[in-house]
Amino acid sequence: MPEYYDKLKEFGSVLKSECRSVWAEECLMIAICGVYADFEIYKVQNADPHILCTKSLVFWTEYLKRVRDVEQYYGLKKDAGAVDRDGVDIEKVHLELYGEVWPIFGKETLEGIKAIIHKRLKNNNLSHELFKDKDVIDFGCGGGRFSFVANELGAKKVLGIDFNEKNVDSANKWVKEDGLSGISFRVGTVYDCGEPDESYDVAISNGVFHIIKDPQAAYNECVRVLKDGGRLFLYVEARGGIINELQSTIVENIGHLPQRRALEILKLLGFTDNSIINLTDFFFAFYEYVSAEEIYNRLKRAGFAHIEELKAKGMDYDHGYYQRKNDSYSEHKYGEGQLRLVVTKGMSKEKRT
Ligand SMILES: C[S@@+](CC[C@H](N)C(=O)[O-])C[C@H]1O[C@@H](n2cnc3c(N)ncnc32)[C@H](O)[C@@H]1O
Repeated sequence: MPEYYDKLKEFGSVLKSECRSVWAEECLMIAICGVYADFEIYKVQNADPHILCTKSLVFWTEYLKRVRDVEQYYGLKKDAGAVDRDGVDIEKVHLELYGEVWPIFGKETLEGIKAIIHKRLKNNNLSHELFKDKDVIDFGCGGGRFSFVANELGAKKVLGIDFNEKNVDSANKWVKEDGLSGISFRVGTVYDCGEPDESYDVAISNGVFHIIKDPQAAYNECVRVLKDGGRLFLYVEARGGIINELQSTIVENIGHLPQRRALEILKLLGFTDNSIINLTDFFFAFYEYVSAEEIYNRLKRAGFAHIEELKAKGMDYDHGYYQRKNDSYSEHKYGEGQLRLVVTKGMSKEKRT
């Protein structure tokens, strides 16, 4: 354990010093992707993750040091144009980040990432009942993949809300191109979506409420627009293990690279749209890691009465319940992992009496 922490610290500081140069930026991206992939945390079950991490961090720290040596030899060092993230408004960073990443994906990627959601819902027996004939609102819809799935699964009406105009435009473009009905997207925030009280049967929030400034206000907003007994499909990250620490180290040390440049580099390196979306999120988004208990408390405070954790396996890379069951080191790796919940709004006190 201590060796891993020391290596993580060293890796962080080497990362910080190396990514000040334009040329190193390219190498850095490769290195980080390598670290991410190489950790094998996702793949290897029942093996001590600290040993894997130490090995990987030693390798990549050495690699980054070599980059510096080569640069100094050839006199290549330049300023990478650092962006100051101290004290920034996190929602401003996210506005730029998600406006750049979600609209990039093409039809094929959209179909692929929709298929993941279909599979997850099917594995949890939710395909036929969650959305059928329901009015559905999607909070922080991004490129709209979840909304499209709800539409395909028979929702009566779907509205996707996102604070980023570029996302909304790209989602509406698919609606138009495919001639879909009963689905639309518009700009709005998760704190004040502008829809009437108690007007929806189902809300979705997939990967949003762990990156916002005021999650409690967002849960309250979900409850406000849901009818009594309405349900929220929620995916949020709870406090994690090594993966969170690794991500925090990376974000702390390379988060100041210009996002657009990073995106271009990943494209040049030939990553798929889906990988680019995941990696840039990993590099730049401000995640909040709180305990599952705190997330449950927020939901209850907002007025959700019943909370159900999805138990069936989703995708191989989910850090969820099934991994906690199958891997004796999963606490170390994932902490409490990703929470995928279906929560039900209770009846208000006034209505009960
Ligand atoms: C990780 S993406 C998830 C997108 C989508 N839910 C999905 O699963 O494909 C997070 C999304 O939340 C949006 N978002 C972040 N903060 C928001 C806010 N305060 N109000 C509305 N949308 C927000 C971002 O623009 C981005 O599209």
